[in-house]
Amino acid sequence: MADFVAVFLWFCNFLLLFGFTDSIPLCTESNFCNTYGGSKCFDGEKVVFNKCDTQFPSRGLCLEKIGNGYYLNTVAHPDGSDRAFFANQAGKIWLSTIPEQGLGGTLGLDESSPFMDLTDQVHFYNSFGLMGLAFHPNFARNGRFFASFNCDRVKTPGCSGKCSCNSDVNCDPLKLASSSSGSVQPCRYYKVIAEFTANGTASDISMATRAKPSEVRRIFSLGLPIAFNHGGQILFGPADGYLYVMLGDGGIEEDHYNFSQNKKSLLGKILRLDVDNMPSEAGIVDQWGNYSVPQDNPFSEDNELQPEIWA
Ligand SMILES: *[C@@H]1O[C@H](CO)[C@@H](O)[C@H](O)[C@H]1NC(C)=O
Ligand SMILES: *[C@@H]1O[C@H](CO)[C@@H](O)[C@H](O)[C@H]1NC(C)=O
Ligand SMILES: *[C@@H]1O[C@H](CO)[C@@H](O)[C@H](O)[C@H]1NC(C)=O
Repeated sequence: MADFVAVFLWFCNFLLLFGFTDSIPLCTESNFCNTYGGSKCFDGEKVVFNKCDTQFPSRGLCLEKIGNGYYLNTVAHPDGSDRAFFANQAGKIWLSTIPEQGLGGTLGLDESSPFMDLTDQVHFYNSFGLMGLAFHPNFARNGRFFASFNCDRVKTPGCSGKCSCNSDVNCDPLKLASSSSGSVQPCRYYKVIAEFTANGTASDISMATRAKPSEVRRIFSLGLPIAFNHGGQILFGPADGYLYVMLGDGGIEEDHYNFSQNKKSLLGKILRLDVDNMPSEAGIVDQWGNYSVPQDNPFSEDNELQPEIWA
């Protein structure tokens, strides 16, 4: 559905842009369906609508250019103010005010003054880097925020953890290393989620314009099988407050080791973690980091699933 909406909005804008608005007075899903009978092509493929109702609001999509930077992540400030965090793949995070709509303002982001600079911890190359940023729902009170990034075991002390290629998932790191796709040592690169704090730089946490790049806690650390397709976005569930972690299959082009289908592998999955209730030292032995598992994760119905797995 999301894909359809994106395509639909794109198409609406296309129509508006090229002045086809006369033939389509209202840019709604129903109008679109009525006009094109559900058989419009996009990229040569037939689009079939499985739902065609009149509830889609009759609004277009208006884009306003406010800046020109190369940002991989944009995250609204959790205090609801008109500010957002912007992060680049190399590991810098900036905080900037979003100009008021329609007044022609620009982002005014001072690249020389980042909110936090993680570039000396982040392995930035090709598809590696700072991949995700998430602020705790109570950030304004507790100052907690989280970054998802890659590190290189050879270059960064503390870049370690469990290797995703292990006997639980029938993966032998030696075989993986000698296979044709293993030009890189398995688990040289890690997917890390680390917690940081905005405490201590302003009396009111919301007003903090800087955070120290020293880690409060390592939440998650997973050695990657090869060097590609590892995902890494992190988001807090707006209703449940759990941390959702998107992980790729770790393959080059295909998932040769079927990690995605393997219920014991965390690769190619969405994980759902509780970062508010930290386990005891004993509790983390079998886990991949400092978090607990929500009791209603799908493993409660399928006990073959690794408990972190949400989808
Ligand atoms: C940050 O401040 C909040 C509120 O005072 C406190 O609960 C939290 O423990 C602090 N976190 C760190 C890492 O110091
Ligand atoms: C849990 O966090 C501590 C403090 O950052 C860290 O030393 C430890 O390695 C983490 N444990 C795991 C399993 O990541
Ligand atoms: C992965 O799954 C496919 C399809 O089930 C199978 O043909 C292939 O042998 C599997 N590969 C491995 C390494 O287990």
